[in-house]
Amino acid sequence: MRRTKQASPLITLSINGNDHMAVVKPFTTLLQVLRDQLGLTGAKCGCNQGVCGACTVLIDGKPARACLSLAANCTGRQIVTIEGVGSVAQPSRVQQAFIDAGAVQCGFCTPGMVLSSESLLAENPKPSVAEIRTALSGNLCRCTGYKRIIEAVRLASKAEAQP
Ligand code: FES
Ligand code: FES
Repeated sequence: MRRTKQASPLITLSINGNDHMAVVKPFTTLLQVLRDQLGLTGAKCGCNQGVCGACTVLIDGKPARACLSLAANCTGRQIVTIEGVGSVAQPSRVQQAFIDAGAVQCGFCTPGMVLSSESLLAENPKPSVAEIRTALSGNLCRCTGYKRIIEAVRLASKAEAQP
């Protein structure tokens, strides 16, 4: 009987511009790798079934559910987590706008909200409120009621438009 060669469990992922090694099984998710192996805990584990958006990361610039993304399928892709966007000392425009608009309460949804907003503004620097709502429709917030979050994205889009 012919034996099939086992795939190596060691993979390389490009995250926030750096290569990271991870040991994965076929069903290891990107979220498990980020949080449990790499200590990148900005992506949150909310529902762990693709509903809440708390685990949102960017894969090749597009928002993706890390809890539904198999790590092994993410090799060769550019992954961005919230740790790769701004810093406490130098927040991104979107992060600053979330602060200015008071769009953060418990903060559990915020990394995903920020990443979805970053992706939206990269593609559409001046979105309408309807476009903002659509872009954030996959990110659930249990605290803020969305009004301030939408206001934050509008603020960031105005900042974006400035020279
Ligand atoms: S934790 Fe991934 S969508 Fe909720
Ligand atoms: S700020 Fe608490 S879930 Fe959104």
